[in-house]
Amino acid sequence: MTDIDPALRDEIDQPPAWMYPWELGEGTTTPISHPELPDVHRTRLELLEGPVRQALSAAGPNARVIDMACNEGWFSHRMLEWGASYVLGVDVRDRVIRRAELLRAHCGIPEERLQLRCADVFDLNTAELGTFDVVLCLGLVYHLENPVGAMRIARALTGGICVIEAQLTTQHEPIVLGNGVSDVYEESPASYAARVETDWESDMLASVGGVVSLTPNRAALLQAAGAAGFADLEVARALPGHNRQYVLGDRAVLLAFPTHRGGASSSLEAH
Ligand SMILES: C[S@@+](CC[C@H](N)C(=O)[O-])C[C@H]1O[C@@H](n2cnc3c(N)ncnc32)[C@H](O)[C@@H]1O
Repeated sequence: MTDIDPALRDEIDQPPAWMYPWELGEGTTTPISHPELPDVHRTRLELLEGPVRQALSAAGPNARVIDMACNEGWFSHRMLEWGASYVLGVDVRDRVIRRAELLRAHCGIPEERLQLRCADVFDLNTAELGTFDVVLCLGLVYHLENPVGAMRIARALTGGICVIEAQLTTQHEPIVLGNGVSDVYEESPASYAARVETDWESDMLASVGGVVSLTPNRAALLQAAGAAGFADLEVARALPGHNRQYVLGDRAVLLAFPTHRGGASSSLEAH
């Protein structure tokens, strides 16, 4: 790491708060927006590390990763440490991409290894981008009004593994709905909670303005991933000691594969 660049120092000294507590040397750590975040990051990292390292290793020295909604790029950095040769980080917020660029320079990472793009995931040209050995779709789908569409994009980009991590609702019972005939109802196990994130200007973790964020329940997350074309789904099992949200099932890390892995590990705790 180099000395802290004045532009990076300015970013640290001004709001909004950061998503990750970057230790930058000189006794400086970036101020984060909530004290629970490091435990959430640690838990997600532990839940995805084994299968992601396996996919990177299987891909060999030219392993490619896309980090959809990379924010400041903390998970992108982990991918490079774990052996990816190239990571593309995408986020809709120019502020977090600016921070990611400053951190890339601070950590001495070559631009050709970590490319950063300010873009909406729905504007990605999947045909042009091709497939990636690892697709990270962490903390994104519940900030979108089209979470299923985002998973379709993630599927189109996935060559090896896609990790979809999301907040979930506590709706475990089916919801009841009509379907065009009076007094006739059906039940759906899959449902979403709708909310508008009013703090989107100050909170760098939020949706972008005007979006109605749809948070799935567990059944809806699995349904969407299946509909997007992932053939093999496994919800990574949270263990005691992991962040409580994952232990309770209020958040989940979903490992999604484009083809069946075969063998005993081909889970489906998911179903
Ligand atoms: C909760 S943060 C997750 C960051 C990171 N992926 C993680 O899980 O640590 C949500 C991120 O999604 C980004 N985001 C929201 N809507 C987006 C969109 N349509 N396209 C790309 N990024 C988006 C936000 O700017 C924010 O950085």
